[in-house]
Amino acid sequence: MSLVPGMASLLLFSTLSVLFVFFPVWCKQEETSFVQRAGTIFAGRQYNSTLVVSNGGDFGSWTWPEMCPEGFYAIGFSLRVEENQVGMDDTALNGIRLFCSRPTDRSILYTVESHTGLFGEWTQTLWCPSGTLKSFQLRVEAPQGLFGDDTSANNIRFRCSSNPVIEGMGWTWGEYGNWSEECKGEGICGIETKQEPYQAGLDDTSLNDVRFFCCA
Ligand SMILES: *[C@@H]1O[C@H](CO)[C@@H](O)[C@H](O)[C@H]1NC(C)=O
Ligand SMILES: *[C@@H]1O[C@H](CO)[C@@H](O)[C@H](O)[C@H]1NC(C)=O
Repeated sequence: MSLVPGMASLLLFSTLSVLFVFFPVWCKQEETSFVQRAGTIFAGRQYNSTLVVSNGGDFGSWTWPEMCPEGFYAIGFSLRVEENQVGMDDTALNGIRLFCSRPTDRSILYTVESHTGLFGEWTQTLWCPSGTLKSFQLRVEAPQGLFGDDTSANNIRFRCSSNPVIEGMGWTWGEYGNWSEECKGEGICGIETKQEPYQAGLDDTSLNDVRFFCCA
C-alpha cells in the first residue's frame, strides 16, 4: 500500500515530534553514561586535610577510603536510604555517593562512596549550583538502648564553596551535630565511611559515621 502524501507527512511530523519531545529526556538520562565509578583506583591521591564530626555513631568500624581522580572534586551527592520499616528494624542511611568533576567542567563525572550498606535505594543527586562540597554536618540518632531500634546516621548536609547548604533526602530521626571544619583548598575529594557489618536478624544500623578528605 502506498501512503497518500498527507498521511506520509503526518507520519513524518509525528516521528519528529516524538524525537523532539523525548530527546531532552534521553539526553538527561544519557548524562549518567558519562558517570564512572572511581572506586579505590585513585585511593593513593594525596590530600591536605580530613573533615570529621564529633557526633558520629559508635557501631562498626572504618572501612576504606575512595578518592576522586587528580584534579576532580566533589560537586554533588546522593544517599542510599532505606525506607521506613515501621516497627521493624530501621537502618536509615546506608551510603553516601559523591559525584566528582573538574571545578569548571562538569562534563565528566566519577563517583566514590567507600563502603555502602545493603539496604535502600539511591536518592536523586543533589548538586552544588557551582563550586565544590566544602564542609558537612551529620544527623545522628543517639543509641536506643538494649531493646530500642538503632539507626545511627540518618542524614547529611553539605556546604558548597559557593555557599549554599544542600541537605540529603535522609530521615529525620536524631539531631544534627556541629559543622565539620571547612576544606582550605579546592574542596572535598574523597570519602571513607564507618559501617556496622550486617547483623543478620539483629539490630542493624548500617552507616554510622563518615569522614571526607580535602585536596588543594
Ligand atoms: C596539599 O597537598 C599536596 C600533596 O601532598 C601538596 O603538594 C600541597 O602543597 C598541599 N597544599 C596545601 C595548600 O597544603
Ligand atoms: C558544638 O559547637 C558549640 C559552639 O561552637 C560548642 O560550644 C560545642 O561544645 C560543640 N559541641 C560538640 C559536641 O563539639
